[in-house]
Amino acid sequence: PETGCLSIIVLGASGDLAKKKTFPALFHLHRQGFLESDVLHIFGYARSKMSDNEMRDRLRGYLTPCQGCEVLREEDVSKFMELIKYVSGSYDAEEGFLLLDKEISAVEDSTEGSSRRLFYFALPPSVYPPVCKMIKSFCMSKSDKGGWTRIVVEKPFGRDLDSAEALSTQIGELFDESQIYRIDHYLGKELVQNLLVLRFANRLFLPLWNHENISNVQIVFKEDFGTEGRGGYFNQYGIIRDILQNHLLQVLCLVAMEKPVSLKPEHIRDAKVKVLQSILPINDEEVVIGQYEGYKDDPTVPKDSNTPTFATMVLRIHNERWEGVPFILKAGKSLNSKKAEIRVQFKDVPGDIFKSKKLGRNEFVIRLQPSEAIYLKLTVKEPGLEMKTALSELDLSYRQRYQDVVIPEAYERLILDTIRGDQQHFVRRDELKVAWEIFTPYLHKIDKNEVHSVPYKPGSRGPVEADKLAEKVGYVQTHGYVWIPPTLA
Ligand code: BG6
Repeated sequence: PETGCLSIIVLGASGDLAKKKTFPALFHLHRQGFLESDVLHIFGYARSKMSDNEMRDRLRGYLTPCQGCEVLREEDVSKFMELIKYVSGSYDAEEGFLLLDKEISAVEDSTEGSSRRLFYFALPPSVYPPVCKMIKSFCMSKSDKGGWTRIVVEKPFGRDLDSAEALSTQIGELFDESQIYRIDHYLGKELVQNLLVLRFANRLFLPLWNHENISNVQIVFKEDFGTEGRGGYFNQYGIIRDILQNHLLQVLCLVAMEKPVSLKPEHIRDAKVKVLQSILPINDEEVVIGQYEGYKDDPTVPKDSNTPTFATMVLRIHNERWEGVPFILKAGKSLNSKKAEIRVQFKDVPGDIFKSKKLGRNEFVIRLQPSEAIYLKLTVKEPGLEMKTALSELDLSYRQRYQDVVIPEAYERLILDTIRGDQQHFVRRDELKVAWEIFTPYLHKIDKNEVHSVPYKPGSRGPVEADKLAEKVGYVQTHGYVWIPPTLA
């Protein structure tokens, strides 16, 4: 194991991402003993001037008790707070970064072993290039001590293919790919991480997982609230850049990719790139974009905005396994529920003697959140004297099956990976490029107003056109069946 000082530097420490996600994740990792507390130092960096204590007080309100705990333990909080120092400075001038380096070096000098520096960018991407330059010039890990410097960056990585490539090139001139961790927090979710195991460790699925048996795959993200407070940011990006191009596409890769050569991160990422490269250009006829009514009431959103808050897009993978199977990606804000799931729908039974078709098809559902579960919809004989069929399910609900297990938060797991140097769950540069290649032509059409977002009612299923599209490409909705997460006995 590595030894020596571990410095985690959160840049943009007073911003939303840092307060809501980064610091709370660090807190829980520390509380559970996953960070080496005796050699750990956390630095917050931002423009505003404040003391260490002011920084700590600001963070306090965002720390939450552990899952299953009633209250926050003051002892955990104060131990964590002791580790935090604050440095103020701008993002493009050397003074602040020189000062930061001085502070980090001071704690490193008092510790034996190597110098490990993790820079977490909780920043708007526009400042990534200057910040990278500053780190490269003034804050790299001390080479005489050994160790490493890593940067963690978060989307949006550009707005389209060209801007993303430009950003990648700027960063790539300063840091090696092995030092860059592009976070997509969906890759840190428990059930997303389970996909590889489910698919490749179960004989059951191997022969079924292809176009001969699967009719269509849906990957769905729904939120039951709008862009409250984030309208200004959101309007520049829209739901395709915010959710489909990254979160849902990453999930698609894991559902559709071929078996990687091994579990080595590069092998897994190679398999993902390959499936992405097999995706055909998007057909305009197989897209519905929508905008919920009231979205433009937000004063930060222009009155003529065409930005979609909803999208259904059909992706088609041109390879031997998936020819003809539509992958329906659907995401929306201000809908009737909040959930994310993968729905693999099988074809009808050939030569059906039970007329079970009327009930609905076999579906393998992976519920990512909330109420994590994996369930398989099956037709069974309805218990009783009659020979009647009914739709039922085999249900692995995590809350019931793993009662004493705490499911880690995505950011906790991913931050731990960055410290351990495991890039499996991070997006590689070539992966990002293909992801942009897929969506850029359509995004440009939206930006140029060549395609239009159709209005939908807040709290609805989204535009009816989207349901029609899913039906047209082969999805058969099951009526009269609702999966109910089991309650604890
Ligand atoms: C973020 C998006 O990446 O993911 C947000 O920018 C979205 O718009 C969020 O709300 C959803 O994440 P989760 O983990 O709550 O599903």
